[in-house]
Amino acid sequence: MKIIGHVHAALLGLGLSSSSNAIPTTELTDNTNQSSLTPRFFTQKLDHSSNTSDVFQQQYQLDTTFFEPGGPILFFLGEEATEMIRIETTILYSWAQELGDIATAIEHRYFGKSLPFGNDSWTRDNIQYLTLDNVMADGVEFVNSIKANVTGAEHSPPKGSYGGFLTAMFRLNHPETFFGGVASAGPSTMIKCGPFRQVSNVHSDRSAEEAAKIKEGLLALEQRFQTDDNVAGLQQELGLCSAPTNSSAECRVLTQFLANTFSFGAEFNYAAAQPGRSLVTPPPELIVNATIAQSDPIQVLNVTQWIWYEPLGYTCLDILNGTSKNGIQGGVPLIQSVPFSYITCTYLPIESTDISNDTIFFTLPSGEELEAKYHFTPEKVSSSERIIFSVGQYDPTTSLAPMLLPSGSRNVSKTLYVSGMAHREDLFAPSDSDSLTVTQARDIELQTIKKWINAD
Ligand SMILES: *[C@@H]1O[C@H](CO)[C@@H](O)[C@H](O)[C@H]1NC(C)=O
Ligand SMILES: *[C@@H]1O[C@H](CO)[C@@H](O)[C@H](O)[C@H]1NC(C)=O
Ligand SMILES: *[C@@H]1O[C@H](CO)[C@@H](O)[C@H](O)[C@H]1NC(C)=O
Ligand SMILES: *[C@@H]1O[C@H](CO)[C@@H](O)[C@H](O)[C@H]1NC(C)=O
Ligand SMILES: *[C@@H]1O[C@H](CO)[C@@H](O)[C@H](O)[C@H]1NC(C)=O
Ligand SMILES: *[C@@H]1O[C@H](CO)[C@@H](O)[C@H](O)[C@H]1NC(C)=O
Ligand SMILES: *[C@@H]1O[C@H](CO)[C@@H](O)[C@H](O)[C@H]1NC(C)=O
Ligand SMILES: *[C@@H]1O[C@H](CO)[C@@H](O)[C@H](O)[C@H]1NC(C)=O
Ligand SMILES: *[C@@H]1O[C@H](CO)[C@@H](O)[C@H](O)[C@H]1NC(C)=O
Ligand SMILES: *[C@@H]1O[C@H](CO)[C@@H](O)[C@H](O)[C@H]1NC(C)=O
Repeated sequence: MKIIGHVHAALLGLGLSSSSNAIPTTELTDNTNQSSLTPRFFTQKLDHSSNTSDVFQQQYQLDTTFFEPGGPILFFLGEEATEMIRIETTILYSWAQELGDIATAIEHRYFGKSLPFGNDSWTRDNIQYLTLDNVMADGVEFVNSIKANVTGAEHSPPKGSYGGFLTAMFRLNHPETFFGGVASAGPSTMIKCGPFRQVSNVHSDRSAEEAAKIKEGLLALEQRFQTDDNVAGLQQELGLCSAPTNSSAECRVLTQFLANTFSFGAEFNYAAAQPGRSLVTPPPELIVNATIAQSDPIQVLNVTQWIWYEPLGYTCLDILNGTSKNGIQGGVPLIQSVPFSYITCTYLPIESTDISNDTIFFTLPSGEELEAKYHFTPEKVSSSERIIFSVGQYDPTTSLAPMLLPSGSRNVSKTLYVSGMAHREDLFAPSDSDSLTVTQARDIELQTIKKWINAD
C-alpha cells in the first residue's frame, strides 16, 4: 500500500495552468462590450459516472479572437490553484495567434471558484466527487460543448495543452478527444526520493561551495539535537515561532522544513517574480550568495530561509503547524492545499511511502494499480503519441518525468529537457526577461504542434 507525502506533494506543485471560459455561439455574436477573455461559468455534471442530475458551476475562459474555422482548440485545465490563472498570462494566448486556434481553459473542480458545494466542498462527504475520472470527464464534456457550439470547430483536433500530469492522463485515457499535449513538469513516474535528489544536484551543480555549506549547516543542526546543545536557542537563531524540544521527531520536522526552502529556491527559479509562486528573483543566485557570505553553519540555514519567507510577510517560521499563517503551506500561496492534499492521497503519484495492508490505515490504490488503471505504465508512456514532456533543469518534478529516447517520427511522444528552466516556466506568456533556453523550448513546442496538426 502506498500513501503520498502531503508536504512534499504540496511543495512540488504542478504545472499550474490557466483556466478559460467557453462562450456559447449566441454570446459570440452578442454585441456586448464584454471581453471574450471574461471568465464565465459552465454547467458541469457533478458525477459523470452516475445518472444523477446534480450539477455545479465550473469557471472557464474561452477566447475565439484568433480562431479560423477548422483551426485547433488549445485547452488548458487549471490545477491546484486558489484562483483561476488567466489564459492571457500563459503561452496559450501567443500560440492562439500563431495557430489560429480557440484558446480555452477550465478551472479544476474543487479549486478557486469551481466549488461544487460552495464553502462546504471539502468535507468528507462532499469531496468524494473529486476523482481523476470526473476531472477528465469535465474536460471531455467541455471540449465537446465547444465543438457543438462554435461553428468551424466541429472537426478540429483539440490538443491538450496542460501543464503536467493531467495532460498525459487526458491524452492516454481520452485520445479520441485530446489529439496531443504539452505536459510541462508533469510527474508520471513513481520514483521515491527523486525530487530531493534533483534539488541536491541543482545546488551542487550551481556551486560546490554552496552545496558543501548547506550540508555542513544541516549536520551542525543534527549535532545540536544529538548532543542536546541549546536546542531551545534555535528558536532565536532561526526565527522559529516556538522553541524546539530535543526530540528526534522535531529535529526531523525542522530539517524537512529547512530543506524545502532549498527545493522552492530551485523549483521557482523564474526570470521574473511570479506572485503566488515566487516573489524572489532569482532564488538560486540569492541563496548561493547568502550561503557563501555566512561562516556560522546555523546562520547559513537561517539566512537562506528568510530569503524565501521574508517577502511573504512571515513573522516567524511555524515548523509544527503547516496551515498556520507562518506555516509551510503558505510558502507557495497559489497552491490550494486542502483539495490538493486529497488529490495527492488518492491519485497523484508524487511521493509514496509504503504502508502494509494489515494496518489500521485506510486502503489506497498503490502506484502500480494507478499506473495500470490509467494507462501510464512506463511501456504505455513510451509508446504513446503526441505528448511533449517538457522538463526543466531546476525543477524537482523533473525527477518524476519520463525520459523518452528520441524517435524520428514526429508523432512519437518526446521528452524536452530544458537547461536552466524552472517549474513549468515554458507555459508562462513570453516576457522580455525570459532566458534563451525557455524561449527556444516554447518554439520547439509550437513547431511540434504545427507538425502534428499538418501531418497527413
Ligand atoms: C453551448 O451551448 C449550450 C446551449 O446554449 C450552453 O448551455 C453551453 O454552456 C455552451 N457551451 C459552452 C462551452 O459555451
Ligand atoms: C459596457 O461597459 C460599461 C462600463 O464598463 C458597463 O457599465 C456596461 O454595463 C457594459 N455594457 C454591457 C452591455 O455589458
Ligand atoms: C445510466 O443510464 C443509462 C441509460 O439508462 C444506463 O445504460 C447506464 O447503465 C446508467 N449508468 C449508471 C452508472 O447508472
Ligand atoms: C465562503 O467563504 C469566503 C471566504 O471565507 C467568504 O468570503 C464567503 O462569504 C463565504 N461564502 C458563503 C456563501 O458563506
Ligand atoms: C536570521 O536571518 C535574518 C534575515 O537575514 C536576520 O534578520 C536575522 O538577524 C538572522 N538571525 C540571527 C540570529 O542572526
Ligand atoms: C532531552 O533533554 C532532556 C532534559 O535535558 C534529557 O533528560 C533527555 O535525555 C534528552 N533527550 C534526548 C533524546 O536527548
Ligand atoms: C551574487 O554575487 C555575485 C558575485 O559577487 C554578484 O555578481 C551578483 O550580482 C550577486 N547576485 C545577487 C542576486 O545579488
Ligand atoms: C494551525 O493553524 C491554524 C490556522 O491558524 C489553526 O486554525 C489551527 O488550530 C492550528 N493547529 C494547531 C494544531 O495548532
Ligand atoms: C496484502 O498484501 C499482500 C502482499 O502484497 C497480499 O498477498 C495480500 O493479498 C494483501 N491482502 C489484502 C487483504 O489485500
Ligand atoms: C501522425 O498522426 C496523424 C494523425 O493521426 C496521422 O495522420 C499521420 O499519418 C501520423 N504520421 C506518422 C508518421 O505516423
